[in-house]
Amino acid sequence: MPFSKITGLGHYVPENVVSNNQLSNLMDTTDEWITERTGIKERRFFTEGKDTVSNMAARAAKVALERAGKKTEDVDAIIFATLSPDYYFPGAGVLMQRELGISKIPCFDVRSQCAGFLYALSIADQYIKSGMYKTILVAGSEIQSNMLEMSDRGRTMSVIFGDGAGACVVEAHEEKGKGILSTHLHSDGTHAEELLLKLPSSSMFQRGLVDGIKESGEILPYMNGKLVFQYAVKYFMEAINEALEFNNYTQSDVDLLIPHQANARITEYVRKEMNMPPEKVISNIHKYGNTTAASIPIAFTEAWEEGKVKDGDLIALAAFGSGFVWGSVLIRW
Ligand code: UT7
Repeated sequence: MPFSKITGLGHYVPENVVSNNQLSNLMDTTDEWITERTGIKERRFFTEGKDTVSNMAARAAKVALERAGKKTEDVDAIIFATLSPDYYFPGAGVLMQRELGISKIPCFDVRSQCAGFLYALSIADQYIKSGMYKTILVAGSEIQSNMLEMSDRGRTMSVIFGDGAGACVVEAHEEKGKGILSTHLHSDGTHAEELLLKLPSSSMFQRGLVDGIKESGEILPYMNGKLVFQYAVKYFMEAINEALEFNNYTQSDVDLLIPHQANARITEYVRKEMNMPPEKVISNIHKYGNTTAASIPIAFTEAWEEGKVKDGDLIALAAFGSGFVWGSVLIRW
């Protein structure tokens, strides 16, 4: 049976940097509040006419392919994680395929929000282990800034989210004990409405896009921050421990933890629970905010570029988000 491993990582973030102070000119917030409650100092916002969810992912994928020593014609499938596709349909995967000039391979989107990249990685892992494909591009990309309202009403969400993309090449290999060791995924729809963007909704008259909708606020994302926070810290830990137990490891065996970047306080909670030093836990939320499906591949790429990902390292990825969906991936690099 073949095994799978990540052989190349890349990321792309829009050039437009937006600081907390810039946001405080638009709404009732402060750099102090955002820094203290989230750890975010700045984020990237896309440039209309230049950046799209699919072309940002394609730029990240080109870097990942080059680092893997692969050409676009080597790719057998594209799995694209996003909650903000270019179009309602078709999905962003086929647009990325077109952008990369790859023809006729299967391309599809995964809609699992902040855990989207882990869900996509898990699917790639299974395709490779089954022998169906040998080389898969996995991407996570988001443009979220244009769904936020830069006002007092929208401030809780507007200060948190940012835009960006990350991608990796997953390849088949034969070396047992190396590469992706396990993937564990979970969902629970009980609290689906506690973190959501409701409109456009197929269950509403004219998809809810009727006069007065902007004023009602239902066109904006909503989050019950405190509830989401409580579940996030619980399920981050459960997912990591599940992966470690499954592979007969303990928390002290982990060399590098790359969590979804939701809030620096969540990352710090997990770090303390696992008794890990700060240098072994990747945190870049201060630069990008929460980039949802793109956050893990961006953080992973930066960690690799900074030389923090070393041969033989045991690496844990973990994510939690709207759904609720959560999970973990354990890797022996
Ligand atoms: O990636 C998917 C998963 N997402 C998460 O895991 C996020 C989880 N939740 C969080 O990260 C936090 O709950 C937030 C960062 C969203 C909010 O932090 P919080 O410490 O839970 O603040 P809060 O919502 O309880 O608000 C505290 C106060 C409120 O004022 P009062 O009622 O105490 O007077 C808010 O109105 O802060 C106020 N507030 C703000 N003040 C300045 C809310 N947003 C802002 C803002 N600037 N942007």
